[in-house]
Amino acid sequence: MRAPLTEQPPRLEIRNLVRHFDGRRVVDDVSLRIMAGQVTCLLGPSGCGKSTTLRMIAGVEMQDSGEIWVDGKLVCDTIFRVPPERREIGLMFQDFALFPHLSVAENVAFGLRTGTRTEKRARVAELLERVDLIQFIDGYPHQLSGGEQQRVALARALAPRPRIMLMDEPFSGLDNRLRDGIRDETLSLLKDEDTAVLLVTHEPEEAMRMADEIALMRGGKIVQRGAPYNVYTRPADKAAVAFFSDVNVLKAQVNGALAQTPFGRFLAPGVPDGTDVDIVFRPQHVRLDFDRNGQGPLPTPAEGVAARGVVERARFLGHESLVEFRMDYDGSVLKATVPNVFLPQKGRVMWLTVRRDRCFVFPA
Ligand SMILES: Nc1ncnc2c1ncn2[C@@H]1O[C@H](COP(=O)(O)OP(=O)(O)O)[C@@H](O)[C@H]1O
Ligand SMILES: [Mg+2]
Repeated sequence: MRAPLTEQPPRLEIRNLVRHFDGRRVVDDVSLRIMAGQVTCLLGPSGCGKSTTLRMIAGVEMQDSGEIWVDGKLVCDTIFRVPPERREIGLMFQDFALFPHLSVAENVAFGLRTGTRTEKRARVAELLERVDLIQFIDGYPHQLSGGEQQRVALARALAPRPRIMLMDEPFSGLDNRLRDGIRDETLSLLKDEDTAVLLVTHEPEEAMRMADEIALMRGGKIVQRGAPYNVYTRPADKAAVAFFSDVNVLKAQVNGALAQTPFGRFLAPGVPDGTDVDIVFRPQHVRLDFDRNGQGPLPTPAEGVAARGVVERARFLGHESLVEFRMDYDGSVLKATVPNVFLPQKGRVMWLTVRRDRCFVFPA
């Protein structure tokens, strides 16, 4: 007989959190589970309720309803409430502030309540070693760059070995060049400490880079959850596609489970006849062909029919080029990206095809 699998409870679980401000549901029935050592990114546009969710978990904001559980124990519902300082939750925000009058070591030791002086000093040294700032142990915040201060703040937040780390746009104050390195360093440190992490961000690229799981939030609700790859390649709706990249949208009506467009037919399985649909695709999934005596490529099942467009504008963006076409069929603009440098002249005729396996068909 095989022993029954004993399942670990999630390190952090929130159930049906709701919060109103001025009669508006700012957080609307949000549920999440995060296991130890996992990073979940709460990703969404500004104002969608991310920080409010985080603040409720931290205990500095009270939910109107819903529950917060840590390691299978209730931490907060509408009646019972563990105070913030006893939740063993680490916090990191964009406008983190180190104490200017305390040394780097004293800043990192600030949250350490238990242990002898020697034990504290050892923990502080261990963390400063990890964030590569041991040489500054007796320095002061004003002697450090922005990125170094950020790493001290991270060490300070992690010093008491929080079971959960809540991070609210912690990297947005850093310039681009520093950011990638600090993100990666932060991630590996959090993984080593086996912390459950909830990271709030409005930047899809940051979420893709950091997350084991992305929870896409909009208007107070989580609209989709999954591994970054799945959220990117199987988006729940048009807005979910558009949140990660530029999009092109074709309008069409369904007839016999097919949507007819200037790019040929698209499968729309299960969509009733007469339904208006949006066919959504990313600029990197548009294929371009040169014009040959007024002709484009022949139709194929994978890419449908080519549509004629005229270059309106082309720009080099560093790792790719973005080309905008004025389309013959209705005069609308369609965007295509091409790896590396491709800068055709304005007015040049080209033929565009759309990869069927990279299109999303949604009811309009
Ligand atoms: N203390 C508050 N009082 C009134 N409205 C608030 C308060 N905190 C946040 N809000 C509103 O709730 C909405 C969500 O805010 P927030 O959670 O900060 O969003 P995000 O972090 O996703 O940008 C916003 O419209 C914001 O103005
Ligand atoms: Mg916020």
